[in-house]
Amino acid sequence: MLKKIVLKKFNRIPETMIILGSGINSFVNNLNDSESISYKELFNYDTDASIGHSGLLHLGYINKKSILVLEGRKHYYENVSDFDMRQMIQAFASIGVKNIVVTNACGGMNESFKPGDIMVIEDHINMSGRNPLVGLNNNDLGPRFVDMSEPYDLDFREMIDKVALKENIELQHGIYVSYIGPSYETKAEIRAFRMLGGDAVGMSTVPEVIIARQANMRVLGLSLITNMSTGITKNLLSHEEVLEVGKLSVHKLSKLLIGFLERI
Ligand code: HPA
Repeated sequence: MLKKIVLKKFNRIPETMIILGSGINSFVNNLNDSESISYKELFNYDTDASIGHSGLLHLGYINKKSILVLEGRKHYYENVSDFDMRQMIQAFASIGVKNIVVTNACGGMNESFKPGDIMVIEDHINMSGRNPLVGLNNNDLGPRFVDMSEPYDLDFREMIDKVALKENIELQHGIYVSYIGPSYETKAEIRAFRMLGGDAVGMSTVPEVIIARQANMRVLGLSLITNMSTGITKNLLSHEEVLEVGKLSVHKLSKLLIGFLERI
């Protein structure tokens, strides 16, 4: 069904898909000649409205390049199974999508970061206690044991640095720690994650990257720092703030994404 829908729109399979994180939804306004279909229709997924994701796949063009944009994702805190976590990304990989850009909203643990910054993910630490590849492996989709020595594509990271330079956008670089949520982290947890080498913390992204790497997709990860983490800031954390800062910074992220798509 997915392949049919994508081919009907483009006559070919786009090379790249983008997953939009919380507050970053309005990136879809950059799409030309776009059509949308709900995850409910495609994958029978219900959308958790409290997260602020619409649960739509958009098929459209940016500067004449065909592109698939996913507005919303599954999180382990929604109590999804590993199978459900795998299903969506594997569906795109198996129709021939080659590249995936994962974006997210997250908390900044590195004290040199500030809300509104964008961090290029260089590597991650999976502290969620979950791995989406647990369960029966379909060897047609990729190997049972997946190499994770360079999950975030080096060429893509260089490309995004060049785009940022051209657009005069300051980028941060660092390690993303995944936490299962949905409660935010404690001060002690943030202290521990910082000691482990983490720069930013969030509740998504890592499962998708693991699935994508199993399927040998090339990955770019961009984190929008929407708040400083617990204990780094004295403010209380709230999802409203996360969405608000996301909205304020989406133009910057959009410029980066558009510039990146021009180069790949
Ligand atoms: N922690 C975890 N997830 C988040 C945060 C945070 O501080 N901000 C946005 N998503």
